[in-house]
Amino acid sequence: MTEIPEHLLKRSRAAKGKGDDAPSAAVTPAASSAPAAAAPAASGPPAVAAAAAAIPKDAAPEPAKPEPHYIQAAKARKKMPIWAFMIVLALPIWAISFAGTMQEVEVEDELFIESAALYTSSGCAGCHGAGGGGGTGYQLSGGEVIKTFPAPIDMMVHVARGSAAIGGEQYGDPNREGGARIAGNRGNMPAQIGALTELELELVIFHERTALGGEEFTSAAYLEWMEHLRERIEEGDEHEIEIDKLLACADPAQTPGATGEGLFDDEGNNICAGPHFEAGEEIAAG
Ligand code: HEC
Repeated sequence: MTEIPEHLLKRSRAAKGKGDDAPSAAVTPAASSAPAAAAPAASGPPAVAAAAAAIPKDAAPEPAKPEPHYIQAAKARKKMPIWAFMIVLALPIWAISFAGTMQEVEVEDELFIESAALYTSSGCAGCHGAGGGGGTGYQLSGGEVIKTFPAPIDMMVHVARGSAAIGGEQYGDPNREGGARIAGNRGNMPAQIGALTELELELVIFHERTALGGEEFTSAAYLEWMEHLRERIEEGDEHEIEIDKLLACADPAQTPGATGEGLFDDEGNNICAGPHFEAGEEIAAG
């Protein structure tokens, strides 16, 4: 791929013809002996001709397997110039930092605004504190909820089915700092199946992990999840929570009843809820 610009450069120099004092030996002979318009290409050195012939081949799109539209959207977004990308990245951070100090959020990012509003309207704030500092329920802020659930998917299952369904069982990171969590030890986390849609569940968890929990969200996997969430907010996605699908994606070592077998569409794409980290990738990688 990287040779193409160089060859195109040579071609354009050759096409410009006589006026150009092109330094390349490959181009000069063609340019100086150019009585006919077609001559440069025909009599050009083999390297140039071969490269020119190779260009259409390279440019032809490969028959790629179809991907979910949100993954395509996430990839398309990466084609933005880097400065534009940095601005997009900066918007949510402003939204967070402004939220604490000002009456109204100045920069509007649907994702952060919707998820923060849901955290309050669906009752989470009442038991866990507006800033996640804890109350009836555990503290979520200061990295506490990330210690319990290194991956968002296990947290989704826990919030969806609540703690009564697994009373007395261990959940979350078995090596959690301060000891592994046991469901029911602190009271009852009410199940959210039926109360929240699947999208709403993902949104409150996004809010608790990033805005409250302080989790990094700059990894490619996280940004892709965020893009997917934004699209579903726009679409008005109202799918119900399907606990079996969450359990298929969760980690059996952290979530009672999880199978860890994954969830795939007909093309074999991973369609588990939440960010899709590569094997070995740091969950909270920046
Ligand atoms: C009625 C109070 C109440 C409400 C409302 C509530 N929680 Fe909880 N939550 C709790 C309690 C109590 C626990 C601890 C339960 C236990 O010991 O099993 C808990 C536990 C949790 C945990 C596990 C944290 C850890 O580190 O183990 C998470 C995550 C959580 N809640 C998220 C939420 C979210 C998201 C919402 C809003 C959709 C919510 N909670 C609403 C009371 C509540």
